[in-house]
Amino acid sequence: MCGIVGYVGPDTGARPLDVVMEGLARLEYRGYDSAGVALVAGDEVYTQKRAGKLANLREALEGDTVPSAATAIGHTRWATHGGPTDENAHPHRGGADGKLAVVHNGIVENFHQLKQELLAQGVTFTSETDTEVAAQLLAAAFAESGDLTEAMRSVVNRLEGAFTLLAVHADAPDTVVAARRNSPLVVGLGEGENFLGSDVAAFIGYTKQAVELDQDQIVTITPTSHTVMNFDGTPAEGKPYEVTWDAAAAEKSGYDTFMEKEINDQPHAVGDTLLGRTDADGKLVLDELRIDEANLKDIDRITIVACGTAAYAGMVAKYAIEHWTRIPVEVSLAHEFRYCDPIVSDRTLVVSISQSGETADTAMAVRHARSLGALTVSVCNTHGATIPRESDAVLYTHAGPEIAVASTKAFLAQITACYVLGLYLAQLRGGTFADDARAVMAELHEVPDKIASLLTEMDRVKEIARFMADTRSVLFLGRNVGYPIAMEGALKLKELAYIHAEGFAAGELKHGPIALIEPGQPVFIVVPGPDTPNELHKKVVSNIQEIRARGARTLVIAQEGDEEVLPFADEVIRVPHTSPLLQPLLTVVPLQIFALHLSTAKGLDVDQPRNLAKSVTVE
Ligand code: M6R
Repeated sequence: MCGIVGYVGPDTGARPLDVVMEGLARLEYRGYDSAGVALVAGDEVYTQKRAGKLANLREALEGDTVPSAATAIGHTRWATHGGPTDENAHPHRGGADGKLAVVHNGIVENFHQLKQELLAQGVTFTSETDTEVAAQLLAAAFAESGDLTEAMRSVVNRLEGAFTLLAVHADAPDTVVAARRNSPLVVGLGEGENFLGSDVAAFIGYTKQAVELDQDQIVTITPTSHTVMNFDGTPAEGKPYEVTWDAAAAEKSGYDTFMEKEINDQPHAVGDTLLGRTDADGKLVLDELRIDEANLKDIDRITIVACGTAAYAGMVAKYAIEHWTRIPVEVSLAHEFRYCDPIVSDRTLVVSISQSGETADTAMAVRHARSLGALTVSVCNTHGATIPRESDAVLYTHAGPEIAVASTKAFLAQITACYVLGLYLAQLRGGTFADDARAVMAELHEVPDKIASLLTEMDRVKEIARFMADTRSVLFLGRNVGYPIAMEGALKLKELAYIHAEGFAAGELKHGPIALIEPGQPVFIVVPGPDTPNELHKKVVSNIQEIRARGARTLVIAQEGDEEVLPFADEVIRVPHTSPLLQPLLTVVPLQIFALHLSTAKGLDVDQPRNLAKSVTVE
């Protein structure tokens, strides 16, 4: 939920602050309620922190005399314990001398009990946060051992919950010590300098050499070393890897917002996710899967666990995977999964979908599924994140870093990866659809160009969005694979434009929601292509007539050449032709553009909508 950066280098100067501020700017998407830095300067620790966005911290630093330092940590916050105030912003100091500073991501669940203990010892607190408790415990432990790593080890063993902690101490000036439990942390290796970050974006401008850490590990970085140990004190080693994208991928590249850039990245997100999935004979090969083929052949049930947009990708995938494999697929919101007494056996494949690979609800669902004996596959966009590491297998999406809080390109990449998985299972199990896998893959390969051409035809959608800046409510209808797209369109509008929006299955209208229709009510309708089986096209056209007869303003998303919608559409937004199951990869695009431009027309912050954060690392 929060962004964390750490740096230690050889020279005292401005570089540590610059590195940390640049890292925080790249991580601001993780939380933007407040921000702060700590620098180890001489025998003191300098801190500066401010409520609000990073710009407030930057302004405060510019108006202050900031000391030179070789070591720095920084934090951008999504508030959990205590509101977004200057006092509650991180870093927090520990010890009567204030020589220790800590930044923290996650929640210390037993902080209340620990705080009572410290209060009884006469420790005073300046914030309402759980983090300050950890800072005070660390300062006390450091006073005893004089060793920051040892202090961290003794403290983390007393903490419950999920956390990443970074600590510096004025008496250990060339060291940053960090610990992680169920919360992200990566190490960046430079030449004579080292880095820490919640994700590699924190230091991608300086190095591509990263080290993955396991859960319950502590890492100590100095300018020339990184040392890893487990919480029980045994030595450990991280897993080195090279980041495959560069700083430009995490920048706006001339677009006004990350969201706009990421929408325009979508042809690549789909294309790259398809790369290397077939052999020379066109047969699907999923090397990453690492699950015995015999076990995969044997599965009799698939459960998809995910949250938000990722869950809608799962709902789209359900239609396709069931159609191709005839295996029953259930989609469970990850936060509900553990508590619904799920039916899982060793023949159940639990597929988690997560862009970040850090979503706590999804991670907990995967752990629960594994404890019940399921096979687990993670569809994930973030190399080495918690969820893929804890799954039996991973199918990476290759969307590149997604920075905007609203998920766009990751959504298309998730659908694509799930389709590849479904086709692979169909191929493995044989039967009618095994033969179709090749044809579907060929059609999937045409999708990136179709998205690219669709993106050039969005001027009218942008205009409609601008005209609708004062709209108070928008409804979205869809059917079959268009139903999750309707819900995704509504979610985008809620999170970006703060407008009441709901997505319905079009067939459900007559069972209640049609009562919402009054003259002028805008309704987007995602129309299935005319070649969709079971006359779904006709049925949705009838739904459009029904709401139009009651005064709705109909904004129709229909395939090129679909003339039947024309008499009942106030606006028609055209998408290129594809076979029915692939349509979501196109129909969602105008809805993303609509939400982006309506939010912009309202003057809102598209990339960092209120109350949200990119990665939800708390339950
Ligand atoms: O990182 P994840 O894919 O696990 O995130 C899941 C949801 O939190 C995420 O998709 C969220 O709904 C987005 N803000 C929607 O745009």
